Amino acid sequence: MSMIEQVWNRARRHTRSIVLPEGDEPRTVQAAARVRDEGLAKPILLGNPDSINAVARQTGTDLSGIEIIDPQGSPKAGEYAGALYGLRRAKGLTFEDAARLAADPMYYGILMVKLGDADGLVSGAVHTTGDMLRPALQIIRTRPGISVVSSSFLMNCPNRSLGENGLLVYADCVVVPCPTAEELAQIAVTAADTARVLCGIEEPRVALLSFSTKGSAKHELVAKVQRATALAHEMAPDLLLDGELQLDAALVPEVGASKAPGSPVAGRANVLVFPDLQAGNIGYKLTQRIGGAECYAVLQGLAKPCNDLSRGCSVQDIVNTVALTAVQAGQQ
Ligand code: ACO
Repeated sequence: MSMIEQVWNRARRHTRSIVLPEGDEPRTVQAAARVRDEGLAKPILLGNPDSINAVARQTGTDLSGIEIIDPQGSPKAGEYAGALYGLRRAKGLTFEDAARLAADPMYYGILMVKLGDADGLVSGAVHTTGDMLRPALQIIRTRPGISVVSSSFLMNCPNRSLGENGLLVYADCVVVPCPTAEELAQIAVTAADTARVLCGIEEPRVALLSFSTKGSAKHELVAKVQRATALAHEMAPDLLLDGELQLDAALVPEVGASKAPGSPVAGRANVLVFPDLQAGNIGYKLTQRIGGAECYAVLQGLAKPCNDLSRGCSVQDIVNTVALTAVQAGQQ
């Protein structure tokens, strides 16, 4: 069974409610029906019901049984505006602005998750990463013990000798442009959790990547990865984690044995932590486009799960991301 089939099966066991703020977007409408049909989650569409139903008619989608909420004039609007004002007034948000924002589907959806009226959120078929991430960071904030939100890409590679039977977790490829050593350590530890929760990897083996292996090069960028490795060890002493490692030393047993003898991770890493966002973003795209890997993206470190789509996403991508979000919600 493939990794994503396993995710679907686990999502079916949780049946969490997942809110879709882009409720009148055609792929989202079709995905909501598919999620309902497959029993992956309870989808909630946000938006004007007339617009949503018009899209359903145009796409031949049956929306029976799917909840539709119009944030404009919702009976919860006052409660949500008050909650948003309470959370952000110290940052200068006025009540009038809070009321205006709470009627916006993105903020409304994020407030639903914050206040427990939904278990998770998926958006991004229309909005950019920042459009969803910024309010999620401001409202949902980070989970206990973590101060940085980041991302993992679940890479399903055709070469089954890599990672965990071809499965590798890459972090961070979306969120933190230039992580500090402290942030990199947190990204490493949260990526190991993502590997456990979403990929069912029982023994995450985390490599903090660099252009140097175990001091083979000296540079301030290498020193940052070394410091991050030490901090991550302190945060999670039982986690199999090592750095700094070059990519080949992390993945190839013979290279790992020769460049980092005795390492518990070298040559058999299944979680790869990139030193910054440029490396991570380029790395996952190389693996996808040249290596032929399937990839699935999730955010990690938020107190409740919200996930982003690519604007070029397919209906299937949205369904898969809803399933991943439902599994994350089921672990909380
Ligand atoms: N973790 C936790 N909190 C954070 C983080 C983080 N990673 N980043 C910002 N915050 C907090 C800030 O402290 C701030 O809190 P406060 O308002 O309570 O003080 C709040 O979130 C908002 O911060 P801003 O400064 O307004 O937001 P910022 O401009 O830093 O934007 C963002 C955050 C959107 C995540 C930014 O880092 C970013 O644009 N990252 C890159 C996204 C991107 O374009 N990725 C690549 C494309 S996606 C792809 O290829 C698949």
